[in-house]
Amino acid sequence: MIIALISQKGGVGKSALARLLAVEFVRAGWQVKIADLDTMQGTATKWKARRDRAGLQPEIPVEKFATVERAVREAGRFDLVLLDGPAHAEQGGRGMAKASDLVLMPTGYGLDDLEAQVEAAYELEESGIERGKIWFVFCRITGSASEDQAAREYLQRAKINVFDPVLHELPSIRQGHNAGKAASEISFPAVQERATALAAAIAAHMQAAKEAA
Ligand SMILES: Nc1ncnc2c1ncn2[C@@H]1O[C@H](COP(=O)(O)OP(=O)(O)O)[C@@H](O)[C@H]1O
Ligand SMILES: [Mg+2]
Repeated sequence: MIIALISQKGGVGKSALARLLAVEFVRAGWQVKIADLDTMQGTATKWKARRDRAGLQPEIPVEKFATVERAVREAGRFDLVLLDGPAHAEQGGRGMAKASDLVLMPTGYGLDDLEAQVEAAYELEESGIERGKIWFVFCRITGSASEDQAAREYLQRAKINVFDPVLHELPSIRQGHNAGKAASEISFPAVQERATALAAAIAAHMQAAKEAA
C-alpha cells in the first residue's frame, strides 16, 4: 500500500508524520520504506542518517526519489511505501495522490493553514482523487480545546475527513527528531502514548481500506 503526505506549505509536519508512521508500521510487522520525494530538503534522508548513527532500532529504509513513478515502483517490494512529499509538489501532488491508497494532509488549527490545505484538497478532488482517500491530520499542535473544536467544525463544514488524535508540537519531539527518533519513541510516556494513538488510528483506517479492497 502507499500513503502520500501532501501539503503545499513546508514545515507543517509531513516528514514528522512519515517517520512516526514508518516506525509504528514496522513495529506492527509491516515492511516499510519512506520515499523521500523532497529531494531539495532531504529531511527524511538526513533523519535516517542520524537514526543510523545513534544505532536506533528498528531500522527504517529511506531512499530519495526524483520522481513519483520511481518511488511507486517500490510498492511491489514493501507492504507500505510512505511518499514524503515536497512543498509545492508538481500539480499539487496529484501524481502522489493518484498512486496512493491514502492521502494525509497535515495542518495546524489556524485558518492560514486550514484554508490552504482545504483548497489543496479540493484541487486534488477536482483532478479526480476521491474524497474518501483524503484525510487531514492536525500536526504541530499547540492550541487549546476550543481551537481544536473550531478547526474540526471548519473541516466538517468543508466536508473534509480528519483523524481524532493529533500530533502536538513539543520540545521533546523536536529533540527526539534531532536524535533520529520518531514521536512515538520519545521517552516521556504521555508523549509516546499520544503519538502512538495517532499512528494506530491511521493504521486501523489502512487495515479497513485493505480489507475493503
Ligand atoms: N510534533 C512536533 N513537535 C516538535 N517539532 C516538530 C513536530 N513535528 C515537526 N516538528 C519539527 O518542525 C519542523 C517541520 O516539520 P517537518 O515534519 O519537517 O515538516 P514538513 O515535512 O511538512 O516540511 C522540523 O524541524 C520538525 O522537526
Ligand atoms: Mg518534509
